[in-house]
Amino acid sequence: MIRKEQIYEGKAKKVYSTDDPELLIVSYKDDATAFNGLKKGTIAGKGVINNKMSNLMMQYLEKKGVPTHFVEELSDRDTLVKKVSIVPLEVIVRNISAGSFSQRYGVDEGIVFDEPTIEFSYKNDELGDPLINEYHAKALKIATEKEIETIKKYAFKINDELKNFWKGCGITLVDFKLEFGKLSDGSIVLADEISPDTSRLWDSETGMKLDKDRFRRDLGGVKEAYGEVMKRLLENI
Ligand code: TMP
Repeated sequence: MIRKEQIYEGKAKKVYSTDDPELLIVSYKDDATAFNGLKKGTIAGKGVINNKMSNLMMQYLEKKGVPTHFVEELSDRDTLVKKVSIVPLEVIVRNISAGSFSQRYGVDEGIVFDEPTIEFSYKNDELGDPLINEYHAKALKIATEKEIETIKKYAFKINDELKNFWKGCGITLVDFKLEFGKLSDGSIVLADEISPDTSRLWDSETGMKLDKDRFRRDLGGVKEAYGEVMKRLLENI
């Protein structure tokens, strides 16, 4: 499959059209940003790791019954995906308090919840991805009630599957962000990526952060943490 023209450049990925109007190529960059692009950097080799990891995770989830945009890994950084229209919601599932949850509600990080939580942000950089509830999403015609129900069902299923998978790798899945898209027939599939950029992953024994918080918080050892997660994933998949 040949890349035709670049149709979009995001913070961590570029998207290209292909000869097939139903397919796109996603190309993963080493660029990293945080705080809505205020903090910028690069993490050498991140694009290669995130591409491979996201593809393995999507294939794993497909086997468990979650439809995804994944079609085929083309190279270290490039993957063929189904063209979707992205539902402009960032879907965040949390098992343990951390990050903006801890800040917003004034609680320590590391509180294990009895049940996972879900929240939505309206994907809009100019507005700073504000939190949004289901009524607002319906009012703004971002998604229908049925689509929101499907997204919630998939998000919790993905949490169950990924929590279990990472546990086998000695990693605790703290929280993560998902994005969903609509195929031309209107069906909802998991899109975007699943990686240490979009998840919080803590070593189950030591609590060491093995994700993008190392970059966001200047903790050092960012590249090594991504490498460690990838190594454990490959040993367990
Ligand atoms: P938060 O605690 O900052 O809201 O982040 C929750 C999860 O979502 C965390 O695993 C990181 C991920 N995330 C993204 O993937 N993209 C984003 O823009 C933000 C803010 C968080």
